[in-house]
Amino acid sequence: MIKDINGDINLISELETSFSFVLSDVLGDIKNNPFSHYLVYLDRGKIVGYINYYLMYDRGEIANFNVLDAYQNQGIGTKLLDYVINLLNNKVNNITLEVRKDNPAIKLYEKMGFIKVAERNGYYHGIDGVLMEKKIEKKDIYVLGIESSCDETSFSIVKNGCEEIATVISSQIDIHKDYGGVVPEIASRNHVKNVTFVLEECLEKAKMTMDDIDMIAISYGPGLIGSLLVGLETAKTLAWLYHKPLIPVHHIAGHIYANNLVKKMEFPLLALVISGGHTELVYMEKDYSFKKLGGTLDDAIGECYDKVGKVIGVSYPAGPMVDKLAHMGEDTYPLPMPLNDNSYNFSFSGLKSAVINLVHNEEQRGKEINKENLCCSFQNVVVETLAKKTMHAINDLNIKNVVLAGGVSANTGIREKLKYLCEARGINYTFPDIKYCTDNAAMIATAGYFAYLDGRRADFTLNAFSTLELK
Ligand code: KG4
Ligand code: ZN
Repeated sequence: MIKDINGDINLISELETSFSFVLSDVLGDIKNNPFSHYLVYLDRGKIVGYINYYLMYDRGEIANFNVLDAYQNQGIGTKLLDYVINLLNNKVNNITLEVRKDNPAIKLYEKMGFIKVAERNGYYHGIDGVLMEKKIEKKDIYVLGIESSCDETSFSIVKNGCEEIATVISSQIDIHKDYGGVVPEIASRNHVKNVTFVLEECLEKAKMTMDDIDMIAISYGPGLIGSLLVGLETAKTLAWLYHKPLIPVHHIAGHIYANNLVKKMEFPLLALVISGGHTELVYMEKDYSFKKLGGTLDDAIGECYDKVGKVIGVSYPAGPMVDKLAHMGEDTYPLPMPLNDNSYNFSFSGLKSAVINLVHNEEQRGKEINKENLCCSFQNVVVETLAKKTMHAINDLNIKNVVLAGGVSANTGIREKLKYLCEARGINYTFPDIKYCTDNAAMIATAGYFAYLDGRRADFTLNAFSTLELK
């Protein structure tokens, strides 16, 4: 019978005594090393063999392995090894071990599918060491994503960076609506209130426990610092408690990777990032490589939508309503085309001011504004500007793949225009699902998977940043 000795003090002390010639402090090892595990082989209640293996994130290692002399050649070693391989199957990508070159166990390892990958000269007091590896069929990786950079508390579990398992988004829009925008202090307090419930609901929805999660991806900036810190501290606590790697994810990288939940992103690609805080053109040569080509010199496009909405009496966040009104009206108000040059930069403050001034002037003259027509005129200018700069970059860099990202990518005008232009030129385009345009953790978990493949890791000193460069 094979048993894990963790938590069984009698078995731990029996193991230390029976194998005192190779083992000393098993209890200390189990306590201090969360990756170390011991299995024992019991023959009529007596420990006659054991195996000590490490499970380190996505990697397994056979650290130590022994059977009492009197019980050798009875297949006990094979059973122990086989047990561990089955246990680690679909948990790790490979199992490694190191053994003395003259150890007959090498034959057993080879029989179990381990192959020699390298030798270490004279490693064991003059005798060579052999490094062996057994590859395990690629394991599925489940990333828990956490997003709290603004007014959404969200957790999500995504498999292999492309398959959403469960997502929960708790929005505070109704709380902030009364103030005409997000109040940072209120936002952080509500994140604190929500965070455990949203996590629990997400795990429940996925029918998973924290043990099934491989790593934790955290959106650590840019955003509201107090809000970010709530998510970050939660991520660190979970990573520490459950011994999971912590993956730092840039919020905008998350928005871009929302597209990977729709279709595998192909490279090189151009991302038009349009959100409440950003308006950028980002070039990606390959997965998780970002180069900002240009961005807004003043207001972000989402901000502009919200301000235009406010002046015509639409409540926050006004983007979706302005978009709706735009489709009901006609382009009758002449508005300036912002930063109409050959750069990849944007400027929307002039356009925003023009709309606000126009509304105020009409009011002073006692004239009523046609809201639908104003929204239509405004949206047309926005769409033209975004489309022009995007196509300019596509032509310059000979891009074949385009994605939209950020809250404003839900905008129907921009979607229609980009779809039309890309189809006419044979360019592949992907837009995020409407539900994943605005802030959510599914996009963070997805980006987290690719950040992980890119080797990105954080330790517990990771801080949150209100501004953060995408790189
Ligand atoms: O990405 P997001 O959730 O937050 C930031 O990271 O900034 O974007 C929120 C922004 C808001 O300004 C909202 O008004 C805007 O996205 N938005 C839209 C639409 N849906 C959301 N703007 C224009 N048209 C829409 N359909
Ligand atoms: Zn966002």
